[in-house]
Amino acid sequence: MKFAIVGKGGVGKTTLAAVLARRLADRARRVIAVDADPDGNLASALGVAEDVQPEPIAHMRQLILERTDAIDEGMGLMFKLNPKVDDLPDRFSVDADGVRLLVMGTVESGGKGCMCPEGAVLKALLQHLLLRVDDDVILDMEAGLEHMGRASAKGVDALIAVVEPGLRSVHTARRVGELASDIGIGRTLVVINRVRNPEDREVLSRALAGQEIIGVLPYCEELVRADLEGRTVFVEDRDFGAAVDAVGEKLERMLEHV
Ligand SMILES: Nc1ncnc2c1ncn2[C@@H]1O[C@H](COP(=O)(O)OP(=O)(O)OP(=O)(O)O)[C@@H](O)[C@H]1O
Ligand SMILES: [Mg+2]
Repeated sequence: MKFAIVGKGGVGKTTLAAVLARRLADRARRVIAVDADPDGNLASALGVAEDVQPEPIAHMRQLILERTDAIDEGMGLMFKLNPKVDDLPDRFSVDADGVRLLVMGTVESGGKGCMCPEGAVLKALLQHLLLRVDDDVILDMEAGLEHMGRASAKGVDALIAVVEPGLRSVHTARRVGELASDIGIGRTLVVINRVRNPEDREVLSRALAGQEIIGVLPYCEELVRADLEGRTVFVEDRDFGAAVDAVGEKLERMLEHV
């Protein structure tokens, strides 16, 4: 199954991506976790030590130039839009205890729908992972909606919009759902995170009426401490772990055609 985790800033996208990846891999699934956030920290969340964290693909200048045959013709940059990328996942992913991690990095020239050699390689690589690789692929996206304009996650089976108690995150989730259909992603599922009490859950369920809620994750003090102390997101809190497992199982049932 292939899915992208989206939502407002700080709602818990990376935490969910890392814990889901870990728990799916622990059940002998082959998992590729992709840090698609230019300012991402999925490697640390997965516990990959700083000195072995993968170099972001977008920063591999030489590789990008070679693969896209980029040449500056004076009139402008010419480059291939369909570079070869099928060897990149094996070459540039690092193993985080059975989860393969790929880091996309920032496209410096930026801008909406940027088409530049880096953008062409990242786009081709994501499409390769989503359409031609059998493993589970989990994309940890950047916060907000901008990536929807670039259609980076086009090809996923579903978007998972994370919301937290707070209506701004609900609005982001709703907007993501609306934009998803424009790029051909038929399914947006919602995970509610950081729920402290039944009232949080009720208010959010009401605000999310009509959307498909596939999980409710409790507020977890241990996660806050882990982040403060620079530890991984793999906490011992059983309630949190069980709630993420329930999301994983639901996704398997919903996204896999047996
Ligand atoms: N259920 C939870 N209970 C308590 N703290 C949580 C929970 N989920 C995530 N957090 C904490 O919230 C903070 C933000 O989480 P995380 O980095 O996963 O969010 P994000 O959506 O990926 O953020 P960004 O938009 O910056 O990428 C972290 O300190 C994390 O430990
Ligand atoms: Mg994040």
